[in-house]
Amino acid sequence: MATRTIALRNFTFLFSFAVVVVLLSASAQTGSSSKTSTKPWMNSSLSPDERATMVVKEMTLDEKISLLHGTGMSGLGPVSPLAVHSNGGAGYVVAIPQLGIPAIQMSDAAYGVRMSGENGRYSTALPACVAGAASWDLDAAHEYGALIGRELRAQGYNMSLGGGVNLTREPRNGRNFEYMGEDPILAGKIVAQVIKGTQDQHVIGDIKHYALNDQESGRNAANVNIDKRAMRESDLLAFEIGLRESDAAAVMCSYNRVNGDYACENHYLLTEVLKNDWNFKGFVLSDWGGTHSAAKASAAGLDHEEPAEIFYGAEFKKAVEVGKIPKSELDDHVHRILRSMFATGVIDDPPEKSVVDVAGGFEVAQKIAEQSIVLLKNEQNQLPLDASKLHSIALIGAHSDVGMISGGGSAQVDPPGGNAILPPGKGRTHWQDHIWFPTSPLKAIKAKAPGVSVQYDPGTDPSSAADAAKAADVAIVFAYQWESEGMDLESLSLPENQDALIAKVAAANPHTIVVLETGGPVTMPWADQVSGILEAWFAGSRGAEALANLIFGDVNPSAKLPVTFPKSDADLPHPTIAKPPVHSTTRDGDHEAWKRIAAGLPAFQVTYDEGLKVGYKWYDAENKAVLFPFGYGLSYTTYEYSGLKVTPGDRVQVTFTVKNTGSRPGAEVAQVYAALPSGAGEPPKRLIGWSKVQLNAGESKEVTVEVDRLYLSIFNVAKNGWERVPGDYAFMAGGSSQNLPLKETVSLK
Ligand code: BGC
Repeated sequence: MATRTIALRNFTFLFSFAVVVVLLSASAQTGSSSKTSTKPWMNSSLSPDERATMVVKEMTLDEKISLLHGTGMSGLGPVSPLAVHSNGGAGYVVAIPQLGIPAIQMSDAAYGVRMSGENGRYSTALPACVAGAASWDLDAAHEYGALIGRELRAQGYNMSLGGGVNLTREPRNGRNFEYMGEDPILAGKIVAQVIKGTQDQHVIGDIKHYALNDQESGRNAANVNIDKRAMRESDLLAFEIGLRESDAAAVMCSYNRVNGDYACENHYLLTEVLKNDWNFKGFVLSDWGGTHSAAKASAAGLDHEEPAEIFYGAEFKKAVEVGKIPKSELDDHVHRILRSMFATGVIDDPPEKSVVDVAGGFEVAQKIAEQSIVLLKNEQNQLPLDASKLHSIALIGAHSDVGMISGGGSAQVDPPGGNAILPPGKGRTHWQDHIWFPTSPLKAIKAKAPGVSVQYDPGTDPSSAADAAKAADVAIVFAYQWESEGMDLESLSLPENQDALIAKVAAANPHTIVVLETGGPVTMPWADQVSGILEAWFAGSRGAEALANLIFGDVNPSAKLPVTFPKSDADLPHPTIAKPPVHSTTRDGDHEAWKRIAAGLPAFQVTYDEGLKVGYKWYDAENKAVLFPFGYGLSYTTYEYSGLKVTPGDRVQVTFTVKNTGSRPGAEVAQVYAALPSGAGEPPKRLIGWSKVQLNAGESKEVTVEVDRLYLSIFNVAKNGWERVPGDYAFMAGGSSQNLPLKETVSLK
């Protein structure tokens, strides 16, 4: 009886369960089929293009126009009442709910999601982008972008405004920390992985600032003069590779003019190169306030204006109505925006606000920092420090008791804990505040060396710092160079008397290690006087922990410089940076400045006559000795290169062996360079590939670097295409651009 009852109960349960399942799936089906029957573009098995075409057919003129512009940002044009629905990021494009099209919520996200402080949220601050490039690690770059994608989604955003890849043509550019170094192949491949990582999280990725916005001074007025071959083989090549290897859905055009026209209304850049030659299918959005017209910009290929509707609202609509802007042009802009939304998954898998994975973020930030800090000097194996043999360490300068500096401007991330040099709770950051992330070198070093006395000296008085150094076994001096959007550095010298501080400390203690926190190269008049130098860049939320792991040898340094460190400003292509005349600038605090900018400030000329000779290509060609070359970085072990073999073909293969000849495991960024045939008219050599090789002590590995044909080509302006010049090519492999022990010359067709 009991068994029957149970059986009956089970039957009743199973029956009701089955009914519920049938009903649920029926209703789900009616739900989704009614959705796809009324909105057939919601069928995710169709291609993004098919889906976008269907939506465009259904749209009214007003709906189309609403996708062409943002809703405003105070100080940068009119702000629409609809802006109240913004998620708090830099850009917001309204939804079209009747068509099932969500809003686009954009946030700056160069090294982490911006504006979390004022929105009461949390973001991880990764090491600066230049540090990511110093890892030369494509997996790390992918994880960099993925973390940003995850945190954007958790905060309710579906579009990133990261992906800065302007080349370090001008080492004093205040935004170099947001970029990926001076080489187009390294920068292009790294940025591609960052964007891919972000887009894999179903967030629209963006690559910026297209193009040649290589200095901040006078950025809204500058007219960059450069010849076509030079731009295609330098700055534009970074974008070309970045786009080709990532399918980035958006490109942000830059503030400056290029060869006469503003980048955001430059037909050559936007249509001929980007959309035609590179077959870019996504959309072009203007930098914030970088639009200067409706009809001209539209015809040139600008799809979307940010942050407001100065030109791409009423004026654009009127121009369409009177036939000044063809309807087909409007539809193409709209198609590109919708296509990008379908392609990246922001319509099928919209973000839901959730808890940001703080612990996971810290872990990623630290891992990337450990792979990006470059060991530049290590006299007599000063590093790693052995805590068991030390009694005292003097820690000097740069607020190293409490934090590490970060890069400012629209890249600025608000760190949890706020600015380390302010009282807790001051979580919001203001434009161009100097923000010290609360990652304390003093604490991290003390934790590694519990029995050692670690004394901090602020470094403001060099004599007292020297006394502290003298009394200690080892002195570690922290020095910094803050950088930000909206400014350039006057020179590559460290500010605030830090050179004198380091020299004085070094004179007091022969065991002096300098830790640099900079966004790019600095000069080092004291380099010969110190025993160790580490370039930590802007090291992010967990910079101090990563640094301590390197200093004490828990992590073996493996990063290499993505930029040359020159000996002096005089060696740069432009010994002084071009500055705009007053009439080409706007006044700070002028709330109407955007009107003058939109109308177009009088141009001032910036001539990049070094052309494609950016970074090491310049110093090589000019025979100028440098302080630390591109690709350089030491390890606590040593490597040996042997057995170069070059296999010619369409994709040349370069094979060689790397051996770890030291006593600890390490990772070597083995680099391959090529010298093109003399008739090609190129600088002495270019990077064409690399492989990051993990090696245990004593271990050897054979590596093969397969070289993309593009990387051995030159741009032929007359034919508007890339070509590999037939002739003799020298292939070189080694540990930096100036340490290439292997060389073989082969003839290529
Ligand atoms: C910057 C962009 C940024 C935008 C939105 C501009 O000033 O140049 O990089 O994405 O502002 O904040």
